[in-house]
Amino acid sequence: MTDLYTRARAAADYLAAQTLHRPRLGIILGSGLGDFAESVEDAVAVPYASIPHFPQSTVEGHSGRMVLGTVAGVPVAVMQGRVHAYEGYPMDEVTFPARVLGLLGVTSLVVTNAAGGIRADFAPGSIVGISDHINLTGTNAALGANEPRFSVAEGAGLRFFDMTTAYTPALLHLAKKEAATQGWTMQTGVYLAVLGPSYETPAEIRAFRVLGADLVGMSTVHEVIVARHMGMRVLGLSLVTNAAAGVTSENINHLEVMEIGAQAGARFGALLKALVPQIAAT
Ligand code: 6GU
Repeated sequence: MTDLYTRARAAADYLAAQTLHRPRLGIILGSGLGDFAESVEDAVAVPYASIPHFPQSTVEGHSGRMVLGTVAGVPVAVMQGRVHAYEGYPMDEVTFPARVLGLLGVTSLVVTNAAGGIRADFAPGSIVGISDHINLTGTNAALGANEPRFSVAEGAGLRFFDMTTAYTPALLHLAKKEAATQGWTMQTGVYLAVLGPSYETPAEIRAFRVLGADLVGMSTVHEVIVARHMGMRVLGLSLVTNAAAGVTSENINHLEVMEIGAQAGARFGALLKALVPQIAAT
């Protein structure tokens, strides 16, 4: 098997050959948020299955395709669906798409997800800006030999890299400002990632709250680690689909997660559409 860089290069070159657009902005759509891909203009949708070496998701509600086109005139690469570590994929496959986005030329990455709310004031349907994360998945996306060619910025691609401002403060600021412009208040929070696929127990959620977590989910941190390794700027947005275990008396089910996504989709889409040109301009 060829090495990871060569495989990611092949996938990026394949994608570049499908479009004349050269996106510097990438968007990864989480559970229930895939509809945003429909609003991409002048779009070519490339099924993951046709991209060399690209992993395929096995979860319902995560249709897998890369949509290349424009949003508000800005070239974008939108991932509709992602693979998760809980599906059994090795770390270099989970992070492969983020690596490919970087090699495609993406320097700003918007990572979205569906999350459980640990804070009682994060009502289902809330869109929360991610200020920081806690990686409790038990593994790290940058595991393995370091590959300095995975870099989109001067000084990136290091063996040991800084995560102090993993979520680019200027981009989070833009998102909060745009939400205010659209008439609502975006709260911010710390996203804690677990491996899954089980949701948490109430005791785990109490423990995570003590650790400083506001949101809990099963994605995002790996992509963000890889993005930061490569020197990308990152904006993280969580859609709170449900209260985490024990926060309310409700049980948690995946259908509810998908439903809330559909309901909040319009507000999420309007936010993202307005943010794209602003992110591109910074
Ligand atoms: Cl409560 N936990 C996790 N790990 N992921 C989620 C969730 C909860 N709700 C939506 N996604």
